This record gives sequence, C-alpha cells and structure tokens, in this order.
Amino acid sequence: MRAAAFTDLVGPDGVSVIEQPDPEPGPGEAVVDVDACAINRHDLWILEGDSAMVDAADLPFVTGLDVAGVVRSVGEGASVEPGDRVVLCPNETCGVCQFCREGPENLCEEFSLYHGGLAEQALVAADRLVALPDGVDTTTAAALPTAYMTAFHMLRRADVGPGDLVFVPGATGGVGVASVQLADAMGARTVGTSSSATKLARVEELGLDHALDVTDPDAMRAAVADVGEPDAVLNHLGGPYTAVGLDVLRRGGRMVVCGRTAGGSSEIDIPDLFLGHKRVEGSTMGTQRDLERLVGLVADGGLSPEIDATYPLDETGAAFAAMQEREGVGKLVVTADG
Ligand SMILES: NC(=O)c1ccc[n+]([C@@H]2O[C@H](COP(=O)([O-])OP(=O)(O)OC[C@H]3O[C@@H](n4cnc5c(N)ncnc54)[C@H](OP(=O)(O)O)[C@@H]3O)[C@@H](O)[C@H]2O)c1
Ligand SMILES: [Zn+2]
Repeated sequence: MRAAAFTDLVGPDGVSVIEQPDPEPGPGEAVVDVDACAINRHDLWILEGDSAMVDAADLPFVTGLDVAGVVRSVGEGASVEPGDRVVLCPNETCGVCQFCREGPENLCEEFSLYHGGLAEQALVAADRLVALPDGVDTTTAAALPTAYMTAFHMLRRADVGPGDLVFVPGATGGVGVASVQLADAMGARTVGTSSSATKLARVEELGLDHALDVTDPDAMRAAVADVGEPDAVLNHLGGPYTAVGLDVLRRGGRMVVCGRTAGGSSEIDIPDLFLGHKRVEGSTMGTQRDLERLVGLVADGGLSPEIDATYPLDETGAAFAAMQEREGVGKLVVTADG
C-alpha cells in the first residue's frame, strides 16, 4: 500500500509517498481502507521538527489521526465487520488507570494518539471505531475527531450555556471554527479573531456573531471589550493571547487552553485571576462518546463541519503547505479520490 510519509522533518517538502507492506489485523484490530484523513497542526509540528514525539530516528513516519473509511479486514474478537463505514476516535488509553475506570478517558495517565491515517490502509484498534450512519460521508466524518472533539470538550470544561459570550482567538482554523460552530449550536454568542477579513467573512457565515480582524494583543483586548465581557474563552493559540483572554473575561469567567500555536508561555495578571474569581483550565481532546455525539449531530443536520479543501494522497505536502501558509478556513482533508 501507499502512504504519505514524513521522510525529512523540514516542513511540507519533507512529505514523500512511499510503499509499505499491507497491514494485517491482530486480535481486536481492524484494517480500514482509508477514504479520508484530516490533518492537524499537531502533524505540521512533527513535520517541522517541532515535536518531542518524533525525531530523525523515527523516519519515515506516517502521521494522520482523523481516519474515516471502510473496514477491510478484522482480527479475532474485533467489534466491527468488513464493509462497515467508520470513523476512528484517535484516543489511545491504558484501560486500567483511574480515569479509564471512572472517566473521562481523555485524562488517561498513559494518554496518547493514533498516528498512521495518511495511507491507503490504516491498522487500528477495532473498539476505537465509531459507525457512520448513511447520511454521514467519510470526508465529513474525517473532519470531526481531533478538532471537533477538542472544541466540544473545551465548551463543557468552560461550562458554556445558551446566551453566554464565548471568545475564540484565532477563529478560522480547525479548532477555531469547531469552537464557533459548536458554541453556536449550543445557543451561545461568539466573538472571534483572525489576521484575515476574508476568512472571517466565511466564519460569520458559519455562525460567528462578532468578527474582529485583529492580531495585536492590545488592540484585541480593546476590540473584544467593545463587544462585551466574555463568559468563556476557548484558547488554542496560547502565547500572548492567554493574557488577553484572562484580561477580557468577566468576573467568574472561564478560559480553557488546548494549544500553543502562538507560543508556549504567557505572563498573566495573578491579582486579576483571584480577585476576579476567574478560572484557567487545560484540556486535551475529548472522549469517544463525544465523537459519537458529534457524528449523531452531523447525521441529524445540526452540524456541518467546515472543510476548506481536499487533497489526494500524492499532494499531502501541498495540504501541509496550505496549513503552514494559513490559507484556509476549517479543515484540510486528504482523500483517496482527491
Ligand atoms: N490539546 C489538544 O487536544 C488539541 C487538539 C487539537 C488542537 N490542539 C492545538 O490547537 C491549536 C490549533 O490546532 P488546529 O489544528 O486547529 O490548527 P490550525 O487549523 O492550523 O489553526 C489555524 C488558526 O490559528 C491561527 N494562527 C496560526 N498561526 C498563528 C500565529 N502565529 N499567531 C496567531 N494565530 C495563528 C490562524 O489565524 P489566522 O486566521 O490569522 O490565519 C487560524 O485561526 C494547535 O496549537 C494545536 O496543537 C490541541
Ligand atoms: Zn488510562
């Protein structure tokens, strides 16, 4: 089978399509014919050599978390059958720690993520496959796992409810658009930012209530304050936007942080944190049950994940170049038929 592998950790030029042996499923495993696999900034960091997880000794490395397709073959005791249409929950968990026993599973002490979907076939744990109803196509399903599970879990961590004002710094990418769409689906109001007015116009069509074409942290602080005092901040950018998020929150407001695109540290105003009774929480991914809920929401027409473009496996490098250049709105998906 063919796979789009990272063969050099130098950015998009480091992606090459290589031949690999067809995988064989062991007990509890399934091989999926991959119709679609979305990419994430997590993958781009690996490709840029900016991940502690993968170094030169691990090459060639096949990434790809968000797999959707059709089950090709199964090992003994697998919970799916050949021909089933499925999407993978990329969570990998130990199954025995206190969080695996009592939930939520994404807090597992041994938590890790599946990699290997940027290929014609993916060898996966069968019990991580979620069945797709007829109305949900595989390209749409591939857009869901990482971005939408993460946004879903953040909204819950932030106790967002109808009418709340939710601030999303960087509202145009995978997690950003997912945050806006899911907040909107919950009846919350949203304020989001981008460096691109054109991209913001598209996110407004997807439900963003207040679009702010601003990147400078001080200007962002003022522009958000003009809209109102957010009840919650969903922060995947990190860096200086973490201080901005905390500053603009209302008393008792909540900021949930899941990423570091704009930097891994930030200086925060500690008196404002405690005098304002504000809350800052970290969050990673969501649960497989969340993915099942998201698939159901799509099937019922309550959510249509935003896909900016699809790419054939041979052009996986171009998909990463588009992400690096911040070209699109929503998800980029590599598909078997391009
Ligand atoms: N912890 C978890 O479980 C988890 C899960 C998913 C994602 N994440 C993290 O969440 C972040 C977003 O991931 P993603 O896949 O959604 O990425 P993505 O689609 O590439 O995100 C693009 C967004 O980031 C903004 N952006 C990019 N570079 C920026 C910079 N240098 N300064 C300010 N804004 C910048 C873009 O703004 P413009 O509109 O201005 O271009 C756009 O809104 C990453 O840090 C990722 O690791 C974490
Ligand atoms: Zn565990």
